[in-house]
Amino acid sequence: MNRYVDIEPAADTPESAAILDKIGRRMLKRQVDALKSLPTFPESIMRINSVLLEENSNQSMEQIARAIEVDPVVTARILRLVNSAFYGVSGAIASVYDALVMLGLDVVRGIVLSSAAMDVGGRRRSISGLWEHSFGTAVAASALGRTLGMSGVEEASAAGLMHDIGKLVLASQLGSEYDRVIAYAIDEGIHIREAELKLLGVGHDTIGQWLVKRWRLPDSLAEPIALHHEPAQSRAHADVTALVHMADHMIRGYGFGFAGDRTMPPLCDKAWKRLGLNERKLRKAVAKMHIDLQEAMVHANLYVSQ
Ligand SMILES: [Fe+2]
Ligand SMILES: [Fe+2]
Repeated sequence: MNRYVDIEPAADTPESAAILDKIGRRMLKRQVDALKSLPTFPESIMRINSVLLEENSNQSMEQIARAIEVDPVVTARILRLVNSAFYGVSGAIASVYDALVMLGLDVVRGIVLSSAAMDVGGRRRSISGLWEHSFGTAVAASALGRTLGMSGVEEASAAGLMHDIGKLVLASQLGSEYDRVIAYAIDEGIHIREAELKLLGVGHDTIGQWLVKRWRLPDSLAEPIALHHEPAQSRAHADVTALVHMADHMIRGYGFGFAGDRTMPPLCDKAWKRLGLNERKLRKAVAKMHIDLQEAMVHANLYVSQ
């Protein structure tokens, strides 16, 4: 029996559905709010995060690097990423400081926070393939952004890396119950978010929103995480949200990683138009994404062993 939330099949009446929805939301929100106090939440990550959040104050790159170097897992993950051919400096970067200069604070923050969410969850079967999906979305966002000549590609890459962070939280908090949600999505041939809404009354995008609020992340990251399935609702960061939405589709279509279902979520017309996409540009971006992913796989062991 799960410690936190009982997952019941969808209720028969709208009234009972509403009650279940409320209870589910309240309990889940409490669980997400309780993340901070979970013993498995690495303190070093909290420290790194707060240092990263003070980027506009007097923190120097050296100070940030020193805070990160305390955590060997995060350090290894950052060095692997920066040394992948994806960033064009294969094998040349050996210090966190150089990696920070190379990747930028946005991407580093994405890596640190994804590590935090995964560490909370441990190595659950249900999140197998999710790191690949997240990393792949970051690569796709970067490839698409560069193809379209957009600015803020680094930020979009970090948002891509973190867009499904709510799934990590759900997997870690619900344990095997989240495996049931995934199985339900696959059996019914529906998108994972639909299955979450039906069984839990809340989607991973909302969970991600709660989490990023708690972690005091900037809106430029929070909005794509909260709205990557409904990019038309995005206001202040509509470009990056549309980019992450498309990147999610690109990597799903490519078949890299596992997003928790076997069907594509609906594609938003407005996001497509906002980015000024056409078939030719998309093909070009997919070709770039393909090369970047291949190189990353050859030159770096980017995967968390499941
Ligand atoms: Fe998602
Ligand atoms: Fe996704």
